[in-house]
Amino acid sequence: MRLGVNIDHVATLRQARRTFEPSPVFAALIAQQAGAHQITLHLREDRRHIQDEDLRLIKKLIKIPINLEMAPTEEMKNIALEVKPNRVTLVPERREEITTEGGLDVVRLESFLKDYLKEIKLANIEVSLFVEPEEEQIAASKTVGADAVELHTGRYANLWNEHKKEQAREELERLKKASLLAKELGLRVYAGHGLTYHNVADLVRELKDYVEELNVGHSIVSNAVLFGFERAVKEFIERIKEGLL
Ligand code: PXP
Repeated sequence: MRLGVNIDHVATLRQARRTFEPSPVFAALIAQQAGAHQITLHLREDRRHIQDEDLRLIKKLIKIPINLEMAPTEEMKNIALEVKPNRVTLVPERREEITTEGGLDVVRLESFLKDYLKEIKLANIEVSLFVEPEEEQIAASKTVGADAVELHTGRYANLWNEHKKEQAREELERLKKASLLAKELGLRVYAGHGLTYHNVADLVRELKDYVEELNVGHSIVSNAVLFGFERAVKEFIERIKEGLL
């Protein structure tokens, strides 16, 4: 199972000060060096974390595949056609949400998406749709011409984190059924959202034969901040000492 590393929240930290650090481009290079199979980033309409320049630099410098998450808008389509990431993942987007809540309603958007995807596919960009593990959303994804679906694992992650083990297990069954259907329809299957060191192993155990790739962001950035904290403090003290010499 491959790992796509989502570097959005490195940019969230930078945007808290509108400064130059920490750089999501640097984080993408480190993720690549560490063995990540893909860099995932979400260019949001409100540019709350990743900026257009980050995307362009990442596309220029990164050798592993790039997965651009975006809302299905004209602006984003034009950016995708210009930058040409390896994959576009369409996600629903609402300005007031904290993170991507729920999957794309492909059933409701069916005729719009059929048309929207044409140019992207013609540009040889793989199209994945971020959907809930529901039969009708998977079937509609095939109908509109997607190459893949990314199954939303947020519900599973929340249940697991709340120690609702039985319900989490049921949600894994739902994810497995959805994966099976997607595969039968000839769609590639990815998954992500809310995965952590704690809840990922159970999911991998159940879905390893169905899901090719996981996309993980917030938890990796969170761990990076804490694991690097001691070193960052010690190095700062060293720099103060330099000034005292
Ligand atoms: N996959 C998709 C489509 C997403 O929108 C996100 C969040 O940006 C993720 C995966 C990663 O979720 P998390 O940050 O919770 O790991």
